[in-house]
Amino acid sequence: MKIIQTENYQLMSKLASQHVINTIKQINKPVIGLATGSTPEGLYQHLIKAYHNHEISFANVSTFNLDEYVGLHKENTNSYHYYMQKFLFNHVDIPSKNIHLPNGMANDLNNECTSYENQIQQAGGIHIQILGIGRNGHIGFNEPGTSFESQTHVIDLDESTRKANARFFDSFDNVPKQAITMGIKSIMRSTEILLLVSGSEKADALEKLLNGEVNEDFPASILQTHQNVKIIADKAALRNIS
Ligand code: F6R
Repeated sequence: MKIIQTENYQLMSKLASQHVINTIKQINKPVIGLATGSTPEGLYQHLIKAYHNHEISFANVSTFNLDEYVGLHKENTNSYHYYMQKFLFNHVDIPSKNIHLPNGMANDLNNECTSYENQIQQAGGIHIQILGIGRNGHIGFNEPGTSFESQTHVIDLDESTRKANARFFDSFDNVPKQAITMGIKSIMRSTEILLLVSGSEKADALEKLLNGEVNEDFPASILQTHQNVKIIADKAALRNIS
């Protein structure tokens, strides 16, 4: 794993955007795995800026998001569909047919999971997967205990994850109890993984990821076994690492 420390969140986001831009420029039809949450918002702002400055086009880019809540419509402001439109897709030239997120409103959720996994494979797999990390070590919504062999699946969200994400909802009770997420194996198949970590509240998780045992109780630990992981983390997130 290659670790790059930045002074702060803004510099982490800028560096991450330069890396994603290089990948997009180098590959003919890049397939990018995307994350939501607070961590990648700055990265998306930089990508939009680069698009407006004519440094980059998304016309040939395809995207697959890590996850989506079960039971939220695309128009729901807390859905990850809505998040992606708001923070990236509405502002760049990506064709809508190239955008993929799991459908958390599907009648048959298991079928939706299989179909999502197939779509990733049919696109030729993910060239670069952007990840954030949960304080409990989740990547995507793969909560502690998720099998390292898992592919896209329905997950019951941990209470701690629902509490962490309650800041976006009117009340804790409105936070969905389930999500569809790419599995650990789906994530690990990506050619490259770019993990972004910011803030002291993630310092313990980052330390465990770097120095802990590889164990399903801490899903992100699997990244130790991937051939091509880059971690861009700010000083606060790396404060436990000497
Ligand atoms: C989001 C996702 C999650 C988040 C993680 C950190 O698509 O899959 O794993 O990356 O919960 O969230 P933030 O960035 O809000 O701290």
